[in-house]
Amino acid sequence: MEASATQSRIATRALIVALVVIVSAAVSATAKANDGLCGMSQDELVECRPAVATGSATPPPPSSACCAALGHANLTCFCGFKNNKYLPLFGINSTRAMELPSKCDPNQTAHC
Ligand SMILES: *[C@@H]1O[C@H](CO)[C@@H](O)[C@H](O)[C@H]1NC(C)=O
Ligand SMILES: *[C@@H]1O[C@H](CO)[C@@H](O)[C@H](O)[C@H]1NC(C)=O
Ligand SMILES: *[C@@H]1O[C@H](CO)[C@@H](O)[C@H](O)[C@H]1NC(C)=O
Repeated sequence: MEASATQSRIATRALIVALVVIVSAAVSATAKANDGLCGMSQDELVECRPAVATGSATPPPPSSACCAALGHANLTCFCGFKNNKYLPLFGINSTRAMELPSKCDPNQTAHC
C-alpha cells in the first residue's frame, strides 16, 4: 500500500515535469512567431492576412499597410513557404500568398 502510494506520487511528478516541458516549448515557439517572419512583424503579417486567407472566393485586395510592409519584407524567405503544407492549417492560401507582392505592385514579383 505504502509503496504503491509512493509510486503514484512519482508518476504524478513525472507527468507534471513532462507537462511543464511541453508547455514551455509551446510558449517559446509562440514567442518566436511574435518576432515576425521574413522581415515582417507579427502586426504586419496580420495586416496581410485577409488578402491571403482561405475560405473566401474573392479575398479583399491587400491593405496599403500590408503592401508597405511587404516593401521591406524578404521575399526570398517567403518563397520558402511556397507549397508549405502548414499554411492551410493557419487559414492561409499559399497561392494567394505568392500573388501578394504583384497585387501590391505590378512590377514586383516573388521570384521563386
Ligand atoms: C487559393 O487561391 C487560388 C487563387 O485565388 C484559388 O484558385 C484557390 O481556389 C484557393 N484555394 C483555396 C483552398 O482557397
Ligand atoms: C532572405 O531570406 C533568405 C532565406 O531565408 C536568406 O538566405 C537571406 O539571407 C535573407 N536576406 C536578407 C537580406 O535578410
Ligand atoms: C512599373 O514599371 C513601369 C515601367 O518601369 C513604371 O512606369 C510604373 O510606374 C511602375 N509601376 C509601379 C506601381 O511602380
